Amino acid sequence: MSKVYVNEKAGTDDSAAGFGTEEKPFLTPAYASYSSPEATIYLYKQVEESEEFAYVEISASALKKAKKGADGIKKKLEKQAKAAEEQAKKAEEQAKKLAELDLIKIVEDEKLPAAKKIKLRAIQENLETRVAVQGWVHRLRLQKGVAFITLRDGTGFIQAVLSGDLAKARQTQELTIESTVVIKGVISKLPEGKSAPGGVELKADYYEVVGLAPSGDESFTNKAPENSDPSLLLDQRHLTLRGETLSAVMKVRASLLRAIRRFFAEEGLLEVTPPCMVQTQVEGGSTLFKMDYYGEEAYLTQSSQLYLETCLPALGDVYCVQESFRAEKSHTRRHLSEYTHIESELAFIEFDDLLSHLERLITKTVQYVLEDEVAGPLIKQLNPDFQPPKTPFLRMEYIHALEWLNEHGIPNEEGEKFKFGDDIAEAAERKMTDTIGTPILLIRFPVEIKSFYMQKCKDDPRVTESVDVLMPNVGEITGGSMRTYDYDELIAAIKREKLDLDSYYWFTDQRKYGTCPHGGYGLGTERILAWLCDRFTVRDCSLYPRFTGRCKP
Ligand code: 4AD
Repeated sequence: MSKVYVNEKAGTDDSAAGFGTEEKPFLTPAYASYSSPEATIYLYKQVEESEEFAYVEISASALKKAKKGADGIKKKLEKQAKAAEEQAKKAEEQAKKLAELDLIKIVEDEKLPAAKKIKLRAIQENLETRVAVQGWVHRLRLQKGVAFITLRDGTGFIQAVLSGDLAKARQTQELTIESTVVIKGVISKLPEGKSAPGGVELKADYYEVVGLAPSGDESFTNKAPENSDPSLLLDQRHLTLRGETLSAVMKVRASLLRAIRRFFAEEGLLEVTPPCMVQTQVEGGSTLFKMDYYGEEAYLTQSSQLYLETCLPALGDVYCVQESFRAEKSHTRRHLSEYTHIESELAFIEFDDLLSHLERLITKTVQYVLEDEVAGPLIKQLNPDFQPPKTPFLRMEYIHALEWLNEHGIPNEEGEKFKFGDDIAEAAERKMTDTIGTPILLIRFPVEIKSFYMQKCKDDPRVTESVDVLMPNVGEITGGSMRTYDYDELIAAIKREKLDLDSYYWFTDQRKYGTCPHGGYGLGTERILAWLCDRFTVRDCSLYPRFTGRCKP
């Protein structure tokens, strides 16, 4: 009878030629039994009562165990072989199927009228004509003999129906979400009872794939699954922007900026573009982003206000839509490190003019956005309960806000009752605004908690002609004030704040060469959007939000 050798420390379970000998033993008795069922198994082990190792015949009990193990190995290998066979069969069938599909060629019928290239926003004007639409596969449904593609081109959506060879072809069977395609065909209104975007459907007669997006692990849906961690979604912002919600907010954003510019044009304000790289601060040193400007210290602008003020004598009332930068330590839902700041400055006005201008600005802008045929329906979708604000807004003095907060048991930052001079922090401000539930013009803040440039009230020099516009669900969306226009008073304020007077010469000159009472404000675009579109955070209202710890992509 033949012999087979096992060394449970140094052997190898391999049935290739040469294994199972004294020189090249197997690793396990089970494998030895599987590979040579008839042979006698010898195990390499310590010889009893000695230091020596040698091959000894396997004991009866160990042999029984080895045979059981051998059965297991046999079954496992048979299973593996069967699976491999099935897989090979499947691959062969797939290849056959694809070869058959390859025989189906998608060709354009040259006898059809030339297709008119249109954007999806122009669907309704192009019914019953042959059109070519181009875009991204937003949704895809493959059924037997028919395929439905929801196409997106940024201006709208359409459902295209592919039937016959168009549906069967390999190109369609292998199509993926987010691939780009050109589809030609005729758009028709859907009969009653059927539904698709815009109530229409494109019956495709031809289509081409322009860029095929990956399938499998790399597929679009695997890259940024909807309910993933917010930071993962932000890493994939370039892809998540394609989603219906984020893109809707960006469309409302565009409409809002258009509406604001329309309002400013109606009010006779001129648009200017102040610099972003500056050497003076506006809103306190703690939020300045410092930069090295050819060896000199400079900052990214916190606000264009001071520059707007210098435009008044040259251009009259002005505004800008400019990025502002704040090195905010606070990690809140309404703070960004970079935001789009809409600021304006008005000459020869009184505080009351500023307040009514702000009311008009907000109500008119909201009206224009709601009237916009793209943005209006999107706001309904994002914020179904949205009620446009009505004028006049509630005007509330800071001192009365403190009384309101104390009466409602809302404490200050130290957990105590509010007293004159306390800042009304975000949480308290939110509670008050949400409880009152309407826009509030919070006015007349104390000098010490507001910026150096604010005009003091004539009837009470402890407070300023200042205003914050507060909206339910967001809190402060706008901050503004009348500006100190007396030269000496402004110089004193700059000194009080320990700012470098010399670097403000261009700003203080405004009070020297023809001063005038004037005022202005800044609106946070993302905050207005969070209010309009009912978003939890301003991060959802910025294209590529920047905040503490995030400056990419
Ligand atoms: O109240 P702020 O700091 O006022 C100014 O900068 C003035 N110089 C503006 C002016 O009078 N021209 O900022 C104005 C608005 C705030 O009400 C808020 O909406 C927004 O800018 N804002 C921010 N938005 C997002 N992230 C931040 N970190 C913001 N800081 C201010």
